[in-house]
Amino acid sequence: MAGMSVLVVGGGGREHALCLGLARSESIGDIHCAPGNAGTAEIATNHAFSEVADLIHLAFQLDVDFVVAGPEAPLCGGLADQLGNMDIPCFGPVAALARLEGSKLHAKQVMAQNNVPTADFHVLGKDSDVDSALDSFAGRPWVVKRDVLAGGKGVVVTDDRSEARQFIQDSILSDGQVLLEDFLPGEEASMLVLMDGSGFVCLPASQDHKREFEGDKGRNTGGMGAYAPAPVYTEEVRKKTIERIVEPMHKALSSRRVPYRGVLYVGLMIDENNDPYVVEFNVRFGDPECQITIPLIASDLGELLKAAATDKLSSQNVEFHDKCALTVVLAAENYPGSVDKGRRIDCVPKSTLESWVNHAGTKVENGQLVSNGGRVLSCTAIADTLGDAADKAYALVENIELAGSHFRRDIGHRAL
Ligand code: AMP
Ligand code: GLY
Repeated sequence: MAGMSVLVVGGGGREHALCLGLARSESIGDIHCAPGNAGTAEIATNHAFSEVADLIHLAFQLDVDFVVAGPEAPLCGGLADQLGNMDIPCFGPVAALARLEGSKLHAKQVMAQNNVPTADFHVLGKDSDVDSALDSFAGRPWVVKRDVLAGGKGVVVTDDRSEARQFIQDSILSDGQVLLEDFLPGEEASMLVLMDGSGFVCLPASQDHKREFEGDKGRNTGGMGAYAPAPVYTEEVRKKTIERIVEPMHKALSSRRVPYRGVLYVGLMIDENNDPYVVEFNVRFGDPECQITIPLIASDLGELLKAAATDKLSSQNVEFHDKCALTVVLAAENYPGSVDKGRRIDCVPKSTLESWVNHAGTKVENGQLVSNGGRVLSCTAIADTLGDAADKAYALVENIELAGSHFRRDIGHRAL
C-alpha cells in the first residue's frame, strides 16, 4: 500500500509530531494538514481550515486515503461520523465515543458499567447539598470537574473549601451540573492505547508536567514537557492496567456498531500499592506526550494509523525503539494566561536524527518565523538514556530567542 495520502487535522506540536512520523513512513506519499503550523508546512501541504464541514469537504476534494484527527473538538463535532458516511477512514472515534472526553460524567458512567477503577464522585446540581458533599471528601484536597469540553481549564484541585464551593457554584450556573471527585493520591502517568474493533496496542507510558513552574508549582497548563518511558509504569503496574482498565474498555468500545478507532489516552494515577486508577480519558494523543511517543515507534506509523482506522490493528506487529525520549515546551510570555501573538522567533536549531524542534504555535509572516499561540515550540530528543535525551533537548531550547518566553528546567525530574 505504498504512497497513501493522508490528512492530519490540527495545528499544534502534536500534529507536527504526527506529520514527522508520517513523513518517515514508507507507506505514505502525500501529507496534508489543516490548519497546520510553520513546522508542518515544511513536510506537508497546509490548508487553512478547522471547521468540521470544511474538513470533510477538504478530505473529499483531496481524495485522501485516510484522515488522522489530532484534537478532540472535531471528533466531538462528528468528524469521524461524517467521514464514515463518505467511506473515508478516520483515525479518531465517532462522536458518541468521543463523549468519553467530552463529558466527564459519561466517562464515569462507562467506567462504572465496566468496573474500571476510578475515584468516587458526586454529581451536583442546583438543588444539591454542596456542603455535605464537600464534607464527604474532607481532609484531602477537593477535586471539582466541569462536565464540558473546557480546553484544559475545567478542573480545580484545591485545599481551599471556599474556592472549591465557588467553582462548584459557578459551574452549576454555567453548565447545570458539576462533578465533585475524591482525591486520588499517587503519581500520574499517561498511557496511549491504539484501539479498533480488532484489538489494541499499548504505546510506551509517559509522564507529562502539567504545572507551569519547576517543582510542579503554579497554574495548570496543557503540558510543559514530557518524557517516556515513565519508570512509575512498572511491569506490575502494566499488567494491572491492561487487566483492569484497557481490556474492559476495549471490550466495551469494540462491541459498538461502529467500534472505537483511534487512540484512547488513559490518564492514570498510580497509588502507593502500585494500583492504577483512571483520572481521565481523552480520545486523542496527548500534547506533548505525542511528541515523545511517536518517535519511539519503530514500525511504519502510516500503516499503523491506517490499520487502526480500518479495524486491522490486530494484524500489525508493532515494534518499539529501546530508547528514551524527552521534550521541553517553550511557552509564550504569560502562558497559560492570554498571550501576544506575532513575536519573532530566532535561532531555531537545525534538526538531527536525535534531536529536533516540534512546532506548536508558530507561523511564517513575511518570511519571518513568529509565535502564534501559548505553547510555541517543543524541543525533543531521543537517546539511549533519559539523561542524554534531557541534555540534548535542553541544548536545543536554550538557544532559541523569543522575547518573554519561558520553559521548565526540570522535565523528567522524577526519573532522573
Ligand atoms: P483531568 O483534566 O481530569 O485530567 O484533571 C487535570 C489534573 O487534575 C490531572 O492531571 C491531575 O493532576 C488532577 N486530578 C484530576 N482528578 C484527580 C483526582 N481524582 N485526584 C487527584 N488529582 C486529580
Ligand atoms: N498533556 C495532556 C493532554 O494532552 O491532555
